[in-house]
Amino acid sequence: MRDNIETLRFHIQSVAKDIVAACVAKGSFEAITDLAQPRALTVLRDLIGLPDFGRENMLKWSSAAFDMQGIQNSRGQAARPVIAETKEFIIREVRPEALNSDSWSRRITELAARGEIDSEIVPFAIRAYINLSLDTTISAIGHFIFQAGSNPETWAKLKHNPSLALNAAHEAIRIGTPIRSFSRHTSKPVEAAGHHLSEGARLMILYASANRDKTVFAQADQFDIERRNARRHLAFGAGIQICAGMHLALLEIECLILAMTQQMPAVDVGTPKVAMNNPICAFAELPVRIQD
Ligand code: HEM
Repeated sequence: MRDNIETLRFHIQSVAKDIVAACVAKGSFEAITDLAQPRALTVLRDLIGLPDFGRENMLKWSSAAFDMQGIQNSRGQAARPVIAETKEFIIREVRPEALNSDSWSRRITELAARGEIDSEIVPFAIRAYINLSLDTTISAIGHFIFQAGSNPETWAKLKHNPSLALNAAHEAIRIGTPIRSFSRHTSKPVEAAGHHLSEGARLMILYASANRDKTVFAQADQFDIERRNARRHLAFGAGIQICAGMHLALLEIECLILAMTQQMPAVDVGTPKVAMNNPICAFAELPVRIQD
């Protein structure tokens, strides 16, 4: 599982196929709770190798980590004790022997044992996997299903040409932009679009706005899996801090799109319910009916 990308792809494909098959057996399903959440949690358990801290805990911790970002409204305040709880849990429970032997988390603890990384980093590195890999990919999958269900030609195109799946994943991430914004400081003076920013200025990086920039994306509000420059979106950030999990996320979403379009004739979506979170744009509920 560790180093072989084909083994990784095979595992992610089989997780996707099984979860999609369970939804097909139901006929109608809940895109978020029946599909997107269990898929993300299974990958966290199998690849990242964390012990099962419980579905509700993992989801709660991930959402709280994002609620802590941005303005400190009541959601941000309520997230503080939850973040402390996550840290305590990880320090108490994450011992090398509790981690899957062939997993990424186990490798982090091995690096620390060999002195190659500081052992104090271990709980933070492992917490980053939990916090950053759940709400983001769950959001992206919700956006794909919503858009594909609302734009029926999408399904036929993917069935006819499965090689569009990766572009479709990018397009869903572009139009949905799971993380709407983060804040950054300038490390030196910058001239940007006719504005002067001094060193240390605090900026709001609006990924969602950039991804609907009409000067870059023609008919930017339209979901188009054949968009030639769909991969130019900024939903994973840019530069040295670009998302460390983006290739994993894209592989997961691509495999899921392939499994869904292979196993389901097409889908109809109902009215989604928006999930409340400070920087994450996602659905809490999205009813789906598989067409006959
Ligand atoms: C569709 C899914 C995802 C989206 C949209 C997303 C988006 C982002 C964004 C916008 C950033 C900040 C980049 C910047 O500062 O410019 C980021 C950072 C990061 N992401 Fe993701 N992410 C996703 C999935 C994941 C997954 C699956 C993982 C882990 C397995 C992950 C791990 C990380 C880490 C560790 C960072 C911090 C990188 C650093 O500061 O050096 N992400 N992500």
